[in-house]
Amino acid sequence: MSALNPYRPGLFVAFEGIDGAGKSTQLHAAAAFLQSAGRKVTLTREPGGTEIGEKIRDLLLREPMRAPTEALLMFAARQEHVLQVIEPALLDGTDVVCDRFTAATLAYQGGGKGVPTERLQALARWVHPGLCPDCIILIDVPPEVAAQRLAQARQRDRFEQENLDFFTRVRAHYLQQAAAAPEKWLVVDGTQTPEAVQNLITQHLKKVVDHFDSQ
Ligand SMILES: Nc1ncnc2c1ncn2[C@@H]1O[C@H](COP(=O)(O)OP(=O)(O)OP(=O)(O)O)[C@@H](O)[C@H]1O
Ligand SMILES: [Mg+2]
Repeated sequence: MSALNPYRPGLFVAFEGIDGAGKSTQLHAAAAFLQSAGRKVTLTREPGGTEIGEKIRDLLLREPMRAPTEALLMFAARQEHVLQVIEPALLDGTDVVCDRFTAATLAYQGGGKGVPTERLQALARWVHPGLCPDCIILIDVPPEVAAQRLAQARQRDRFEQENLDFFTRVRAHYLQQAAAAPEKWLVVDGTQTPEAVQNLITQHLKKVVDHFDSQ
């Protein structure tokens, strides 16, 4: 059992960063690394990860709504995800690698859209009491770089259409969260090549796994 998460044996890793930072690009390599170390891994995402969660994701990415509604839907999807997917996997000894978790709601709906942080934290305490990722990997890029990448990629969803000021606030909030808990967060400069970013993440995960297993 880990001292980081004393009630379960799986490792919980979350990837964070603004839209276009490179999370999806790096998630699979991280999962592959953990598997190569002999660990069982579940790869999942937020909002989503369950049947209801994916329906809520669809609403969130398409339908205009107020920021508090957005936050409540994020946590509604998260409730199902935690109960159906994350906790059962962790309790079974399976690592969970998740594309976004509560830090994203704090950064986007809190930092980006002004929903009071204490309300979001109260929801987090209600929806996943005692559960927090063991390791949060923040892929940090300036909004201009992310926007350039997304411009070359697919059609943008509702969040990806936000302006640079919005992403500047979201990025700043992420960096603030990371600075407040440096033992939990790895901040990687996402403007490097995908290979360089992957190397840094792998090196860090090696250390996290060793520490986690030694508890
Ligand atoms: N280090 C990198 N350097 C240059 N381009 C990159 C890098 N990492 C990812 N990309 C490219 O940037 C685009 C966005 O990457 P990706 O989809 O992984 O970001 P994301 O953080 O998952 O975005 P979203 O939040 O929208 O899902 C993709 O076209 C991807 O190929
Ligand atoms: Mg992605």
